[in-house]
Amino acid sequence: MAHHAIAVMVSGRGTNLAAILEAAKNGECPVDVRVVISNKIDAPALRIARDAGVSSVFFVNPKDYKDRIAYDKACADIIEKADCQWVVLAGYMRILSSFFVNYFFNRIVNIHPALLPAFTGVDGVSDALAYGVKVAGCTVHLVSEEVDGGAILSQAVVPVLNDDSLESLHQRIQKEEYKLYPQTLHRMIEQGFSMDGRRIIWR
Ligand code: GRF
Repeated sequence: MAHHAIAVMVSGRGTNLAAILEAAKNGECPVDVRVVISNKIDAPALRIARDAGVSSVFFVNPKDYKDRIAYDKACADIIEKADCQWVVLAGYMRILSSFFVNYFFNRIVNIHPALLPAFTGVDGVSDALAYGVKVAGCTVHLVSEEVDGGAILSQAVVPVLNDDSLESLHQRIQKEEYKLYPQTLHRMIEQGFSMDGRRIIWR
C-alpha cells in the first residue's frame, strides 16, 4: 500500500494530529506525516509532532510576513518541497488565502466540530449547544474559499445530553473526530472520490 505524504497544519493542542500519527503508526491509516506547520509558537501540537519523530516541524511566524498571501506562500513552499499530496488542517486557526486554497485545489481537508452546514465558525460547539440541538457531531470536508463551506467528505453524530456543558459535549465530539479523521484520510487515499457538484461520490 502506497503511503501518501501529508502536511498537517495546526494552531493548538494537536489531539487530532496525535490521532492521525497513532493511526499511521498502527497501520490503520496509510499516511506519512512528513510536515507539521504551526502558526503558534506555543502550540502543544508542535511537541506532539517532534515527539512522534515527524521529520519537518515548523513554527512559521505570521509576524515575519507582510500579509496573508506572503505567509501562505511560505507555507506552500515548505509543503511543496516536502512533496506532500494532501494538506490536513487539524485545529488550524487561520483563514487561508485564496492563493493557498487554489494552489492545493481539492487537496486541503479540515475537520469541524459540528454537523455542517450548521454551526460554522470558531464557536461551532457552543452555538449548537445554545441552539438546543439533540444531536451534534463533526464533519470532515474539503477546504474552499468559504470558511467551513467546502464539500463534505464524512460526518459522525453524537447525542447531546441534558446535563452537557461545552466541555463535555466537545469531548464527546472529539472522541469521534479521532476516529473519523484517520478513517476519512484512509478512504481518500485507498478509495478516492469524484465530485458531482457539491456531492462527494466515494469510489
Ligand atoms: C477540533 O475540535 C477540530 O474540530 C477543530 O479544532 C479542534 C482542534 O483540536 N477544527 P486539536 O488541536 O486537534 O486538539
